[in-house]
Amino acid sequence: MTKTLVFTAFGGPETQQLVDREVPAPGPSQVAIEVKAAGVNPADWKIRAGQMGDHWKLPAPMGREASGIVIAVGDDVEGFTVGDAVLGQAAKGHGTFAQHTVLNAKQTVAKLEELSFAVAATLPVAGATAYDVTHQIELEPGQTMVILGAGGGVGLMAAQIGKVHQFNVIGVASAAKQQLVEATGATFVESGADVAERVREIAPDGADLVIDLVGGQPLRDIAPVAKDPALIISTADPDTAQQLGGAGVQRTKEGLEKITEVAEYGLVDPHVVQRFSLDEAQQAIATVEDGHTAGKVVIEP
Ligand SMILES: NC(=O)c1ccc[n+]([C@@H]2O[C@H](COP(=O)([O-])OP(=O)(O)OC[C@H]3O[C@@H](n4cnc5c(N)ncnc54)[C@H](OP(=O)(O)O)[C@@H]3O)[C@@H](O)[C@H]2O)c1
Repeated sequence: MTKTLVFTAFGGPETQQLVDREVPAPGPSQVAIEVKAAGVNPADWKIRAGQMGDHWKLPAPMGREASGIVIAVGDDVEGFTVGDAVLGQAAKGHGTFAQHTVLNAKQTVAKLEELSFAVAATLPVAGATAYDVTHQIELEPGQTMVILGAGGGVGLMAAQIGKVHQFNVIGVASAAKQQLVEATGATFVESGADVAERVREIAPDGADLVIDLVGGQPLRDIAPVAKDPALIISTADPDTAQQLGGAGVQRTKEGLEKITEVAEYGLVDPHVVQRFSLDEAQQAIATVEDGHTAGKVVIEP
């Protein structure tokens, strides 16, 4: 048997439950793993809350990204063997807040020793999204990238990627995250009222790319700093981004491989700020649901 966190109905945290299930077997294009670490993302509670559709079969296992050791390989899967250390995204119908789970082999890559399991577990969703959102519009060194929500899971890695490319990175976050954002090499700007004016003081010509990781009114407030509305890309609120003339993030196949390579070289560190056991998984989700995470929260079964 394997312990797995599920939600039993669309709603609040009270619908979450740690249950015992059979150790899952991989189907075609899947690998089963013993989970060593799982990253917690806003999507985990948004799915539970019914904000991402109602097409999940209940009770639904929670958690989208993980690292671990391969325990079984689907029939048609090439490139993975039992015992391999890997990181990847949960296969449909499976969740990573569990002792064992099943990953989608096409969204799974090998984990080198250089990467800890905790860091590796943050790359399949948060890291790969940071890679995709910083590459959707190609900038030249010296151009200005503004990141709204720069101190969170995606934001810190996006800022680090921007610095690797020698962009002029401006990271917008609350005052409590100033040091964390500056440690990426980005220029810190405090979020809140008049944020566009504060960004313009540093970048009077405006931004060549505005990355939105927050959405809603904060996105509307910062949007005017973009040189052109088409230069706004949002992971948090594609609808508002589109209304403003921008776009939602487009996820790519290569994002996971690329971010894993960059992390292996030590160029990106997700800043794992809190680690919880599987028994404490509800607390881990609540921390992320609070909306003000600094870096990444992981669960280690
Ligand atoms: N489409 C995709 O494939 C995809 C993938 C990953 C993530 N996402 C989405 O992208 C968003 C960011 O994800 P994440 O993992 O980085 O989330 P996160 O770790 O929770 O970070 C979000 C950041 O937003 C900041 N924030 C919250 N309220 C704010 C406000 N009113 N004004 C300014 N900043 C505010 C918080 O920083 P402060 O405490 O400093 O305010 C926090 O650090 C989420 O909406 C997530 O669902 C989408």
